[in-house]
Amino acid sequence: MKTAVITGATSGIGFETASLLARKGFRVLGIGHSEENCLKAQERILSENPDAKIAYFWGDLMQQREVLCLSRDVAAYLSENCDGELNVLINNAGCVRSWYATTDEGYEQQFALNHLAGFYLTHGLLPFLKKTKGRIIITGSKSHKGIKVRWGDVMLSRGYNPLIAYKQSKLCNVLFAKGINDRYAAEGVRAYVVDPGLVNTDIGNKKTGTLVKLIWALRKLQGVPPTVPAKTYAFLCEQEKAPEGLCYYLCRETTYSKQVTSENASRLFALSERLCGICYGREAAV
Ligand SMILES: NC(=O)c1ccc[n+]([C@@H]2O[C@H](COP(=O)([O-])OP(=O)(O)OC[C@H]3O[C@@H](n4cnc5c(N)ncnc54)[C@H](OP(=O)(O)O)[C@@H]3O)[C@@H](O)[C@H]2O)c1
Repeated sequence: MKTAVITGATSGIGFETASLLARKGFRVLGIGHSEENCLKAQERILSENPDAKIAYFWGDLMQQREVLCLSRDVAAYLSENCDGELNVLINNAGCVRSWYATTDEGYEQQFALNHLAGFYLTHGLLPFLKKTKGRIIITGSKSHKGIKVRWGDVMLSRGYNPLIAYKQSKLCNVLFAKGINDRYAAEGVRAYVVDPGLVNTDIGNKKTGTLVKLIWALRKLQGVPPTVPAKTYAFLCEQEKAPEGLCYYLCRETTYSKQVTSENASRLFALSERLCGICYGREAAV
């Protein structure tokens, strides 16, 4: 049985992907923010599919100390129940914000959750992925195009614009996937980015201001249900031979920003390693 870990698996795209992968016979380890939402999601999946192999872990992925705890708990589970093997890691948890806000550790929240959390979690689970020549899938967005990383002020603390911060975090998703492929494709580990399109979820209604809530309430009505992008994750998980592309939309390769170069990917890797206090190449032994 193949195992998939998926973050943000309590609602929207992550929940539907967890549910679909469980129906397709994957053992699914979902990660969510709160115990309450994780138990509700688990119950919902099991009520629709009593044979689902599903377990949930919870914690605040914005806080690096909690990412570390989660990654240790998932690692222990994989060692005890899955022969230390992980086939797929889906870094999907994400948020939008209306104003500048930082985590307890001082990182801008969209950058912390949308990019750094996945970067840190992947580091902890990489040894398990290497054992299966596994796949890493990151939820990106078409909105990553048309901007550059602000290397001198990556948290955008000066002249904060929440939309730019979101777009930059999504550019970081593609750069991170590119960086993984540059480093680990030779060992069989591949990374992909899924552009889910516009999806009818509640992302814009969580911890945002009145104006964003209002705009999102109207905009999301144009979106597809989260069951639509879930199929693209399943496609990337199920292909026997690892697909060659980097970004996918509706199960097909799609274009990405010209900013996605090996040079920028390397620069982001180095910056993110410093911000997380970790070093890829020095992963924990399984
Ligand atoms: N919706 C779209 O149109 C769209 C378009 C492009 C890209 N995306 C991307 O898709 C991904 C999923 O978003 P969605 O639209 O499905 O929204 P969503 O329904 O709000 O899902 C976000 C998930 O992340 C979890 N989460 C939020 N903050 C967290 C934290 N601090 N620690 C741990 N987990 C946390 C949420 O938990 P709770 O259930 O407890 O809130 C939820 O499970 C995001 O990366 C987003 O940027 C969405």
